[in-house]
Amino acid sequence: MRAVVAPEPGTPEVLTIEEVSDPRPAAGEVVIDVVAAGVNRADLLQRQGNYSPPPGAPTWLGLECSGTVTELGDGVSEWQVGDQVCALLTGGGYAEQVAVPAVQVLPVPRGVDLIEAAGLPEVACTVWSNVIDVGKLQPGETLLVHGGGSGIGTMAIQVAKALGARVLVTCGSDAKVQRCQALGAEGINYRTDDFVETTKNLTDGRGADVVLDVIGAKYLTRNVDVLAKGGRLVVIGLQGGVKGELNLGALMGKRASVHGTTLRARPTVDKGRIVAAVRREIWPLIESGAIRPVIDRTVDWSDAGDAHRAMESGENFGKILLRVTDG
Ligand SMILES: NC(=O)c1ccc[n+]([C@@H]2O[C@H](COP(=O)([O-])OP(=O)(O)OC[C@H]3O[C@@H](n4cnc5c(N)ncnc54)[C@H](OP(=O)(O)O)[C@@H]3O)[C@@H](O)[C@H]2O)c1
Repeated sequence: MRAVVAPEPGTPEVLTIEEVSDPRPAAGEVVIDVVAAGVNRADLLQRQGNYSPPPGAPTWLGLECSGTVTELGDGVSEWQVGDQVCALLTGGGYAEQVAVPAVQVLPVPRGVDLIEAAGLPEVACTVWSNVIDVGKLQPGETLLVHGGGSGIGTMAIQVAKALGARVLVTCGSDAKVQRCQALGAEGINYRTDDFVETTKNLTDGRGADVVLDVIGAKYLTRNVDVLAKGGRLVVIGLQGGVKGELNLGALMGKRASVHGTTLRARPTVDKGRIVAAVRREIWPLIESGAIRPVIDRTVDWSDAGDAHRAMESGENFGKILLRVTDG
């Protein structure tokens, strides 16, 4: 089969389609004929040589896909050949086929087309595990999401609104602020306004109960400042650096907590638990129309470099998808 590979680390131009070995399903796995793959910021890091795939994962890119089940490994009974599905992957989604543990597979939600479904697993699983499971966001609480216009941000806004929470987001442009407002969030342009001051003004000085952070070190002090009493800061991205200084006094005074998680390197059993929860709690919201996939654009997989360039320059609002076959 063919896959998009980065033969050496580098700029988007290194991405090229090459022949790679066909996947074989291990026990408990299915093989999917891929129709579309989601592009994630982690793919840019992997292409640059800064995010190695975990042992055993395909070396080519891609953390999620949609398509049709074509083969079942030993012991798989929950999926049939011919099922239209999407899946959370540990790698290898930018390819004609991929093998994936059956527990990481989800049905295509009713009302969502097969291509759009490729953009759901990574954001739905990341948002459920960090905002709901770790962050424990409750109805009536306030969530602050950094990067409201990202793939992650557009899903976080919708999940939190459906839960009955208030959502504030930071964005780098007024255009993205407006599009987040259309999804139900209150927007802060981080280039012109201070997010701590604005959040406190909007919440009568309380602050945010949960902060979903994709910046890391550069925002650590301000993220602790913006937390309400009992607040939870959940760091899932390090776009602003890895090492920061944490004011433990401020954290203790607020009885607040700081969490950090990654999804890709988790054991299959853990991913299976998250996928099952997403199917139970998020899928019905998508099928009812309360949450919809926010797709910025879909490009042919031969133009994967253009897709990476677009994400790198921050053009996207929501997900960028690669069309791998016509399905
Ligand atoms: N830990 C995990 O398990 C996990 C899983 C999935 C994703 N992630 C992380 O989540 C983040 C979003 O991923 P994605 O695939 O959705 O990427 P994406 O669509 O490229 O989003 C990146 C976002 O970062 C925002 N951003 C950049 N600088 C900012 C700043 N100074 N303040 C606030 N926001 C800023 C951008 O906002 P503007 O364009 O408006 O500037 C953009 O919306 C990435 O950092 C990714 O690594 C983590």
